[in-house]
Amino acid sequence: MKVEAPSPRGLLTSEYVLSLVRADQPIPGPALPELALAGRSNVGKSSLLNLLVGRKALARVSATPGKTRALNVFLWGGRCYLVDIPGYGWSKAGQADRASWRALVTHYVADRPTLQGVLWLLDIRRDPSPDDLAFGALLAERKLPVMPVLTKGDKIGRAQRAERMAAIGRAFGIPAEEMLVTSALTREGQEELREAVLAFMP
Ligand code: GTP
Ligand code: MG
Repeated sequence: MKVEAPSPRGLLTSEYVLSLVRADQPIPGPALPELALAGRSNVGKSSLLNLLVGRKALARVSATPGKTRALNVFLWGGRCYLVDIPGYGWSKAGQADRASWRALVTHYVADRPTLQGVLWLLDIRRDPSPDDLAFGALLAERKLPVMPVLTKGDKIGRAQRAERMAAIGRAFGIPAEEMLVTSALTREGQEELREAVLAFMP
């Protein structure tokens, strides 16, 4: 059996740091840039974080949408904090829950001074929802660097891929070549994702 040597990026250590329950709560420890993983509920944010750092279950993945409720902070390679933020658009959440998560996420994205960029996750199979468009407007207002990442690439055939990328690109005004296709299942895009995240850091 051929055993692949781990990539240098794959050897970077990762650890859970803490969960923020307020958007202005400081992270104890070294002052490092923060990069958020954002997107609708169930899009695969926690799975992408695990793919990026090369750990199976560092961030909690769940079949039940709405699992991530706080801003979960992870340190990656001593270089940056990756922040797994609650997903938007979870229709089964109660009104009060939705409002409090929205306030937390909105405040974090709009006002957090240490937030340097956002990995914006979009399901390759879906057209944008009103929540996606509202979140896009929030990102545009803050003028943060945004890296669009398409998730669940394993769920569609190669033939449909270009078509889906073009449709998503048109809907969000993102050039198709700027989008990275990933799969937490097949690990497609893992190295490109690592390179892109490291390149993103100031
Ligand atoms: P919330 O925290 O609830 O907002 O969800 P999330 O965006 O963190 O999504 P999560 O990573 O928990 O994944 C949601 C579901 O999608 C789980 O059942 C995952 O196993 C599945 N999933 C995530 N990424 C992929 C992928 O690349 N391919 C496939 N086939 N399934 C995936
Ligand atoms: Mg999650």
